[in-house]
Amino acid sequence: MKGNGHKMTTRHSILALMFALLSGSLGVASSHGAQSDHLDLVDAQGNIRKPPDYRVRYQALGVYTVLDPKGNEMHYTYASPGTAEFYGKNGRFADGTVLVKEVFATSHARLTTGDAHWAESTKVWFVMIKDEKGRFPGSPLWGNGWGWALFKSDAPDKQIATDFKKDCLGCHIPAKETDWVYVRGYPALGAK
Ligand code: HEC
Repeated sequence: MKGNGHKMTTRHSILALMFALLSGSLGVASSHGAQSDHLDLVDAQGNIRKPPDYRVRYQALGVYTVLDPKGNEMHYTYASPGTAEFYGKNGRFADGTVLVKEVFATSHARLTTGDAHWAESTKVWFVMIKDEKGRFPGSPLWGNGWGWALFKSDAPDKQIATDFKKDCLGCHIPAKETDWVYVRGYPALGAK
C-alpha cells in the first residue's frame, strides 16, 4: 500500500511539473512571457494590436467604477501574465508588460445583495505596452516609457489613437509618479 501511494505521488508531481512547463507557469518561462507578449502584439513600425485572449490569460488588476448620470461605467484593467509578481518584487513594470483597460457600460438590478451593478457591454479598450528601450522614437504612439493604443467596439481590431501626447497623456499626468499608471486602484499590485 505504502509503495503504491509513493508511486502515485511521484507520478503526480511529474505530471504537475510537465503541466507547469507546458503552460509557462514556472518563473523563468513567465518572465519570457512578458517579453513575447510585447513582440507578438507590435509590428516593425510600432503598430499595436489588442491581445486577443486577455480575458482568459491575463490577470485582473482591479476595477474603477465611474458614476455618470449619462451612464455608469466599469473600467476593468488586465495585465499580461507575471505582472503582479514582478511589480511586487521590483516596484515597477517589466519591459514588455501589456495593460488592457476595458471600459464597460453597466446594468443593475435588485439582487439578494442589494442594488447590484455589473459590467454588460464593452465600449472601448485602452492598451499600454511597457517599453524601457525607446524602440520607436519616430512613432507618435510611443513615448514616456510606453506604447499607447485605443480600440472601439464598433471596429474592435482597428487601432484608432493617433498621438499619445494628445489622446492619452494629459489625462495620465496625475499618475506620472507611478509610471503614468493609476496603480492605487489595483489591489493585485499591492495598492492598499
Ligand atoms: C479622460 C481622461 C483619459 C484619457 C483621454 C485617457 N485616459 Fe487612460 N485612464 C484615465 C484614468 C483616470 C484611468 C484610471 C481610472 C479610471 O479608469 O477611471 C486610466 C487608466 C488607463 C489604463 C489602465 C492602467 C492605469 O493607468 O490605471 C490604461 C491602459 C489606459 N488608461 C490607457 C490609455 C490610453 C492608451 C489612452 C489614449 C489612447 C488613454 N488612456 C487616455 C484617464 C484617461
